[in-house]
Amino acid sequence: MKNLINKAKKTLLNNRRRGYTLPTNNKLYPAQWNWDSGFIALGYSCFNLNFALKEIDTLLKGQWNDGMVPHILFHDTNTNYYPNHTAWNCGNKIHSSGITQPPILATILKRILEKKKLNNTQLINVKKITKKIKKFHEWFIQYRDPKKLGLVSILHPWESGYDNSPIWDRSMEKIKIHKNLKYKRADNKLINPEFRPLNIDYDRYVTIKNHLRKIKYNPTKAYKSSLFNVIDVGFNSIFLKANKDLVWLLDKFNLDHSKINKYIKLTEKNFLKLYDKKKGTFYSKDIKNKKKIYIPSITNYFVLFADLDNYEVNKNLIQNLKKYNSKEKYFFSSIKPNHMSFEEKRYWRGPVWINCNWFIYQGLKNKDIAFSNSVKKKTIELLEKSNFYEYFSCKNGQPMGANNFSWSASLYLDLKINEN
Ligand code: GLC
Repeated sequence: MKNLINKAKKTLLNNRRRGYTLPTNNKLYPAQWNWDSGFIALGYSCFNLNFALKEIDTLLKGQWNDGMVPHILFHDTNTNYYPNHTAWNCGNKIHSSGITQPPILATILKRILEKKKLNNTQLINVKKITKKIKKFHEWFIQYRDPKKLGLVSILHPWESGYDNSPIWDRSMEKIKIHKNLKYKRADNKLINPEFRPLNIDYDRYVTIKNHLRKIKYNPTKAYKSSLFNVIDVGFNSIFLKANKDLVWLLDKFNLDHSKINKYIKLTEKNFLKLYDKKKGTFYSKDIKNKKKIYIPSITNYFVLFADLDNYEVNKNLIQNLKKYNSKEKYFFSSIKPNHMSFEEKRYWRGPVWINCNWFIYQGLKNKDIAFSNSVKKKTIELLEKSNFYEYFSCKNGQPMGANNFSWSASLYLDLKINEN
């Protein structure tokens, strides 16, 4: 499959602009996205280490003074994307959105350092990057967990990266849509609208955004007053793993990690409170409406990726995961197929996403080698059959969304070249 390896590299290079890479080459996402760039950097590291580091560098150029790294950087302002830079109206040095996305940079950087030999100049650069990532993680701890729970909140569904997941449905239904919203979506003109979020979802996304804009994205006010505030299992799993990987990085460069270490201990302890022993699943928490959220989403299994220090819990999760979508040809569907909210083709409400499979694979490989290998094999097979699309049907592998999708290409390279 050498051809596909070359095609994956070409996909990234074709999507590359000045120092950063678009999520895809069509007009759907004409900017730099936070966690996309993390995955993309990992892909580049398989054949061009400087491009990998540059990708991360460029993303961190948009870091806010308080430490937040935005979910979008608008390097090119002349596009039809909505919400664009004027709709957000914020940014530091680079126009950006006013919310963040899952912090995967520490994990990606550690993986790159473990796989590749860096020269001195690159190492000096990585040390600088590490300091910025530390500032980002401290921002989360300070502003997204003011009650010191060891668990951070997201204040907009877009922050999770799984935008229209049914996880958010009940919290979103509570949001009163602002009157006279005037905006034009471009996404559902570029992609079959049946594969995209609904208009009513967008109305609510924009309503939450407008509120944050009104309070000038002040992080303290935002936590207290956002129309949406959820402690999500998947997001916190990614953050816990990233904190562990950040400690590894800080240690490597002799930088202080006492605060992060302390936070990891608190998270490990309190994460288990989100475990429902009877059901054998984790649940998320709607902080705004004080409700537990039980939606069978693949992201709840990201706990395996977090490497929680609890053998029994991990064992139960793996058992359940084996049954999760075993009746379908391709795994993992973003939502369990027998759940009422499952939709085979609609974005994060059912389709298979390669980054989810990647998190699960990474989480399984030190716990159940045979299962992890089959996840990897099936993920590779899906990409080899259906190409580097954005997402896929779990029933027949039908490719959907954007083609030439950067993180699908990147993670293919990581799975094929880096192995383990
Ligand atoms: C969508 C996805 C998000 C991704 C972005 C760019 O908004 O839901 O996870 O980062 O597109 O690919």
